[in-house]
Amino acid sequence: MNLFFIPSIIALFSILAPVLRYGKDHILPANYVFKPAELQEIVQTTLAENPGANNTALFTALGHKFSDRYGPYVKDLNYDDWHFSNAGGAMGTFFIFHASFTEYLIVFGSATGTEGHTGYHLADDYFIIVSGEQSAAYPGENMPTIYKPGEMHHLSYGTAQQYAMPPGSFAIELAQGYIPTMLIFGFLDSIFSTADPFNLWLQIKFTTISMFKNLLLGKI
Ligand SMILES: *[C@@H]1O[C@H](CO)[C@@H](O)[C@H](O)[C@H]1NC(C)=O
Repeated sequence: MNLFFIPSIIALFSILAPVLRYGKDHILPANYVFKPAELQEIVQTTLAENPGANNTALFTALGHKFSDRYGPYVKDLNYDDWHFSNAGGAMGTFFIFHASFTEYLIVFGSATGTEGHTGYHLADDYFIIVSGEQSAAYPGENMPTIYKPGEMHHLSYGTAQQYAMPPGSFAIELAQGYIPTMLIFGFLDSIFSTADPFNLWLQIKFTTISMFKNLLLGKI
């Protein structure tokens, strides 16, 4: 490999980084349909209205609320289109309510529990706990921050943490930013770790269909 390859990539990125951040702060938000605080309120209301409900009942109630509030921008919840997420060493299952070039909204979690690297993303990530909990820590922290049902964990654009979720934990996740760049992270483990072409196909299929449908609605 050329001696200058890695320094060149770093130099290129340091020139691009401020441009990308300006776009994220000033250009992309005009395309956003979702608001983190509003989604958190929907999750909190759902939890308050369904005390002691199991995950299936909570997801169903959330799906109805999303469809009422966001109409054609979200897909109706079903139990056929869930697939695995393998990314950053963590494994979970998810359903895509919405994917476009600037946002995605999913329900993500794991029946068995999971742990891994959040990834560095060119997007803000909002993780609103529905059941169980999530713990997360930056390098050097020797105690995690713990997020409980109804609480929202905002992982800022360009930062990364280690995170864990015990069995049966699920969350509503909203990402806002350069979504196509996040997909690379979302696909790598399915290629190089699990070597699961069936799941990779489902990920690509459901993401692409949702992006295309939203594009037809004029949603970038
Ligand atoms: C979850 O709760 C619903 C509604 O109370 C119930 O019909 C369903 O059987 C429960 N599912 C499980 C797996 O316990």
